[in-house]
Amino acid sequence: MAKGKSSVFFCQNCGYESAKWMGQCPVCREWNTFAEEPVTKSVKSSRAAGNRGAAGTSGRVQQLNTIDLKDTPREGTGIGELDRVLGGGIVPGSLVLVGGDPGIGKSTLLLQVCRNLAGREQKVLYVSGEESLQQIRMRADRMGQFADSLYLLCETDLERVREAIEETKPSVVIIDSIQTMFNEAVSSAPGSVSQVRETTGVLLQIAKGSGVTIFIVGHVTKEGVVAGPRVLEHMVDTVLYFEGDRNASYRILRSVKNRFGSTNEIGVFEMCGEGLREVPNPSEYMLEGKPENASGSVVACAMEGTRPVLIEVQALVGRSSLAYPRRTVEGADINRVNLLLAVLEKRMGLLLSSSDVYVNIAGGMRMREPAADLGIVLALISSARDIVISDRTIAFGEVGLSGEVRSVSMAKQRVLEARRLGFDTVILPQSHCRTIGAVEGIRLCGVRSVRDLMTYIR
Ligand code: TYD
Ligand code: MG
Repeated sequence: MAKGKSSVFFCQNCGYESAKWMGQCPVCREWNTFAEEPVTKSVKSSRAAGNRGAAGTSGRVQQLNTIDLKDTPREGTGIGELDRVLGGGIVPGSLVLVGGDPGIGKSTLLLQVCRNLAGREQKVLYVSGEESLQQIRMRADRMGQFADSLYLLCETDLERVREAIEETKPSVVIIDSIQTMFNEAVSSAPGSVSQVRETTGVLLQIAKGSGVTIFIVGHVTKEGVVAGPRVLEHMVDTVLYFEGDRNASYRILRSVKNRFGSTNEIGVFEMCGEGLREVPNPSEYMLEGKPENASGSVVACAMEGTRPVLIEVQALVGRSSLAYPRRTVEGADINRVNLLLAVLEKRMGLLLSSSDVYVNIAGGMRMREPAADLGIVLALISSARDIVISDRTIAFGEVGLSGEVRSVSMAKQRVLEARRLGFDTVILPQSHCRTIGAVEGIRLCGVRSVRDLMTYIR
């Protein structure tokens, strides 16, 4: 095979490739991220080859209607929360990237998947470039019994990995992690953009060629992206991110790309002594420890995919001794909070310009949807005026610049979730009251503008 040797510069943040060094990346605008990587490109790019179809169908023209969907059954992983995020289970021949901070639980989750699949007498191969066989065994011992059809390999050489896959013929392979693998055809160091890209290309070829499902673990950098993320993300079928506070015990698995399902599903897990445990009722989990009869604490409702999750919004408003009062926001968008403060000042005469304002979404969740507005506004009023909001009240709705409260999606689901958890009052946009109708056991308090809130919270 003819080979051409060259050296190029890659942005280590976003994977942008350039023939010369640059101080600032023209794509992601990061400074000082270019590093030189010698690349030896084979004429037949592994990426191009990998984009061919699944086993046995490559290159053949077929009519859409003749393609039988039953040919691609999904395999449950035995972990409901993971299946939900994957869109119903593992699709054979797919390539799944699992990203996340070091120590968040990626290896633990995938080893649990291995255990469940091996328990069903499926052959599984776990390739680790990070830990020794003993370390993996130690982790496995904490999780319980493993069946014999789980094979381990400690290897970083991609060629050896490929041979092992051909020898053992597993149905699922775990590569832990992509940053430790190297391909001899590429001369740059493991973890560099070109190495990660070429390695993923080879894995893609293996997955599509033999129908084996490959899970790739990818570490994220400080900025929260997998090294060479653009390249990786568009090569694989599914991208899952494992996130959460390392100090808190719960973890959220989020899908950001999924060729076989919806991308806005989340799975919630809790890290415990025996590995990760599923949290099927995130609302209960998030509301644990909510203070009683405290001002500044309000329950809001966020939609995570198709699931409503009740979350506690906390606000603290206090007199400031600084020339520029503090605005600290955790878990919500600070610009959005500033906007809501301006609305409160202008439309309700709530003067907060000389107060410090802290807003926190308890439990470490993030609330990015506008439906959180009403909860935040209510928490701010509650803290500023020292009014306690009943523990059995939730609020959701978008707040506009004129102080109007606007409708949001999936209002009925949110109300039903509140009822399920024993709440009795829902403050929501007036326009929803009619569409939802009567809900037994729930008092619906429709509001047209933020000023109307005062009728319900005194
Ligand atoms: P790990 O899966 O090794 O993280 P990653 O592969 O994403 O780097 O998770 C390691 C952390 O999880 C570590 O801090 C120990 C903790 N842990 C538990 O608390 N309980 C367990 O049963 C296991 C296996 C790990
Ligand atoms: Mg690991």
